[in-house]
Amino acid sequence: MSAELPEYVRRNRAEWDTWAQQYAAAGERNWSAPDPSWGIWGVPESDLGLLSGLQRGMEAIELGCGTAYVSAWLAGRGASPVGIDNSEAQLATAKRLQEAHGIDFPLLHGNAEEVPLPDASFDFAISEYGASIWCDPYRWIPEASRLLRPGGQLVFLVNSVQLMLCAPDDPDTKAGARLLRPLFGMKRFEWPDDDSVEFHLPHGELIALLRDSGFEIEALIEVQVPEGSTTTFPYADLEWCRRWPCEEVWKARKRS
Ligand SMILES: C[S@@+](CC[C@H](N)C(=O)[O-])C[C@H]1O[C@@H](n2cnc3c(N)ncnc32)[C@H](O)[C@@H]1O
Repeated sequence: MSAELPEYVRRNRAEWDTWAQQYAAAGERNWSAPDPSWGIWGVPESDLGLLSGLQRGMEAIELGCGTAYVSAWLAGRGASPVGIDNSEAQLATAKRLQEAHGIDFPLLHGNAEEVPLPDASFDFAISEYGASIWCDPYRWIPEASRLLRPGGQLVFLVNSVQLMLCAPDDPDTKAGARLLRPLFGMKRFEWPDDDSVEFHLPHGELIALLRDSGFEIEALIEVQVPEGSTTTFPYADLEWCRRWPCEEVWKARKRS
């Protein structure tokens, strides 16, 4: 375990401690939602099936759990979740919502690239816009593999490659139909208006990384947003997201 956090983990911690207040309302809504829905458009679980491989009694970890509503959904389906997050402020909301809903599970404060738990502790690992975009993929994906038992499943949701290539630097300006940056070499993203750091890989590189980390890929779902969907996020519009995926879901299985 490293004593020092990587520079981008420290920067993301400071930003998420500041942003946590803005995410509390969405956390409250999702903790109360009868059925899971995913991403910035709230696409129903029945369309995407992120939890289709989850079974009652499974031990699960949510990597970058934020307000931990995904973990609450896992608990509601009979699994035993653990959430880890880099932001104490996000975990404070998660703890408040645990108490409000009478659902208890462990919440760890730490870096999802170095989880302080033994190898092969879990059957299921999930990340919705958590470690999946805020951690270095060359660190968090091998770490997810370490944490999973053989046959365990990793499921994660991220911004699509198309969106990352077309999104303007100004987060309040919507993505257009023009490639603004190269695919080759894409990995680390920083935006001019804040101090956060995100990571997004081209598909070929992510496939190679998953395979080198001991996974077989089961699915890449390029999410087409259902007609009539709404979002509070300013950077994508419905017409764009009906033509191109703005999000993608990956499902991978740890080799036995
Ligand atoms: C967008 S939230 C994800 C939670 C929820 N699914 C959602 O979409 O609101 C992103 C979370 O990732 C967490 N995060 C960022 N870097 C992390 C790291 N290195 N380890 C663990 N969590 C991290 C942030 O603190 C934040 O709570």
